[in-house]
Amino acid sequence: MAVNNIVNVKTKASEIFLGDNVFSVLSEYLRPYESGKIFILVDENTLEHCIPTLLLENKALHNAEIIEIDSGEENKTFDICYQIWKTLADYKADRTSLLINLGGGVITDMGGFIASTYKRGIDFINIPTTLLSQIDASVGGKTGVDFDGLKNVVGVFNEPKGVFIYPNYLQTLDKREMLSGFAEALKHALIKDADYWSKLDSGTLSDANNWEELITTSIHIKNNIVLNDPLEKGERKLLNFGHTIGHAIESYSLVHDQNPLRHGEAIAIGMICESYISNSKSELTASDLKTITDTIFSIYNFHQLDDSTYHELIELMKNDKKNENSEINFTLLSEIGKADFNQEVDVELILESLNYYNALNRD
Ligand SMILES: NC(=O)c1ccc[n+]([C@@H]2O[C@H](COP(=O)([O-])OP(=O)(O)OC[C@H]3O[C@@H](n4cnc5c(N)ncnc54)[C@H](O)[C@@H]3O)[C@@H](O)[C@H]2O)c1
Ligand SMILES: [Zn+2]
Repeated sequence: MAVNNIVNVKTKASEIFLGDNVFSVLSEYLRPYESGKIFILVDENTLEHCIPTLLLENKALHNAEIIEIDSGEENKTFDICYQIWKTLADYKADRTSLLINLGGGVITDMGGFIASTYKRGIDFINIPTTLLSQIDASVGGKTGVDFDGLKNVVGVFNEPKGVFIYPNYLQTLDKREMLSGFAEALKHALIKDADYWSKLDSGTLSDANNWEELITTSIHIKNNIVLNDPLEKGERKLLNFGHTIGHAIESYSLVHDQNPLRHGEAIAIGMICESYISNSKSELTASDLKTITDTIFSIYNFHQLDDSTYHELIELMKNDKKNENSEINFTLLSEIGKADFNQEVDVELILESLNYYNALNRD
């Protein structure tokens, strides 16, 4: 639904607003907090590129306390949470306070967790500023931080009071981050919407004029899945497509690489491998596998996987919190736009899929 050019999507316990005029709605949302304390969590990039518009559009935020952390997944940790909890306590934040998370998925995931736990929970609002956080982290109420080298191990489900998406924030995002988010859009299309896949594949939605359509389509797909299964007992597992292998590659890269893969870059590799598995084990045709592989391979830089690290990747997959009974569970495609969850896959086939990806560079 769009009123005054603002798209409004109702989630389980909250609402998402999207559009160029979105800050007019935010002003309404801020009214109950104006007599209390408002905090804005940023990193150095959103401080530079995103805070100015936010403050310009919302007078109520002129007295807000700004909490700045260093950007990057390596800072999505308890140590940083500790510092932010401490800052909130030093500034005497109380139950009437509001935390606004202005940034990518690192800021919204960690800020959501901090707000959900500080004094047993204070209100928070998310203003996602990367493509990934606008189309994916914006929906579903997952908050959390990385722990002991594993992604998102500690966290809670809790929805923000509202999510405000201003697509123009993407103007300052660098290309690598844009593509990282685009991987999640490809995933949404592959698991649920063949028409969306065709549009993404043909480049129709890559132009800035079409960002709003892209973000809205992805949000609707994810939101419909989450509404059916908020706690990931069943259908929500569809969203893990590309993530069983992708998360392992991402976790490994985070610890070992000087310039680690971005989330979406790892998921892109995971989607190629898991499409290969889908072709071997499910009904995905060889021609669909080729289409998916060619499309993803043409968008993302090749990242050689060292076969001496495969055993570590398998261990990481086994440790993934989404597994049950220590089996490695996958979401597999039966065709473009359709997927099934809870598919058990042998280690042999997983290794084959990693080799399939590695061999692409030599074709
Ligand atoms: N909660 C969920 O459902 C969910 C879903 C998907 C991903 N995630 C999490 O999201 C995180 C990744 O999010 P991300 O890709 O947004 O990464 P990120 O938060 O690290 O942001 C990427 C980079 O872009 C910069 N940036 C942010 N907005 C900008 C802007 N408008 N202009 C210029 N630079 C900007 C940031 O400072 C950072 O350097 C991961 O930790 C992942 O686990 C969560
Ligand atoms: Zn993801």
